[in-house]
Amino acid sequence: MDSLNQLIKSANNLVVFTGAGMSTESGLPDFRSANRGLWTRDQKQYLSSTNALNDHLQEFIEFYKKRVQGIHEFKPHKGHNILAEWEKMGVLKQIITQNVDGFHQEAGNEKVAELHGTLKKVHCETCGASYLSEEYLHGNYACSCGGVLRPSIVLFGEMLPEKPFLTAEEAAIKSDVFLVLGSSLSVSPANQFPLLAVETGAKLIIVNKEPTEMDGIADYVIHEPIGSVLKEINSKL
Ligand code: APR
Repeated sequence: MDSLNQLIKSANNLVVFTGAGMSTESGLPDFRSANRGLWTRDQKQYLSSTNALNDHLQEFIEFYKKRVQGIHEFKPHKGHNILAEWEKMGVLKQIITQNVDGFHQEAGNEKVAELHGTLKKVHCETCGASYLSEEYLHGNYACSCGGVLRPSIVLFGEMLPEKPFLTAEEAAIKSDVFLVLGSSLSVSPANQFPLLAVETGAKLIIVNKEPTEMDGIADYVIHEPIGSVLKEINSKL
């Protein structure tokens, strides 16, 4: 851990890449943890698709209403707060996140590229009007134009938003240390950013409870809970 602490301390351009494992210690489930993930436990991955929006609307809305409730019920944890401190200290240059819970911004990070959109908002599938996702909590699923309100996240079958993608690409290329926190790195194109960072000279650190698809190209792999790892690194900064 000492050489890892030294690597982070001496980084000129630290970039952090987070996945759903970053928010499990807040109380939100991830997707692929063995027997606990939304996909592994509940087999609900088909609901995270444009097909479900078009052909299983009732089930789609019920599933996302529960997830919207979750981001309002749970809060960022100490690990999120540490990353916000690192941004303020100038240690952390950019967060690239696959998460849609908004917890990095809630903890105080401003430089956050949300590759998969946000559950904080919903928008009309017909006219594009944007609303806060609290509409779902109030049982409102229709736009004033009559169109369906759907979460402003990227569903399987949809393109990633261009601006965060370009921000992430630039950050990965510029990074000299690329720290992955809580992702199985199994979904593209998001999982290409750690690869791009390594290809352009960065040291790669992966903190993930379970092995990931990119452990083989990492300089450091730590299969431990994110919260305790970030506390340990932070104590040595
Ligand atoms: N500390 C460290 N690792 C953890 C913790 C924790 N407290 N909790 C969970 N993990 C690890 C799990 O072992 C798992 O390998 O985090 C990883 C989360 O992986 P996934 O559930 O696959 O989530 P993610 O990689 O973010 O998924 C990517 O898939 O379904 C899509 O759009 C969805 O953005 C998501 C994308």
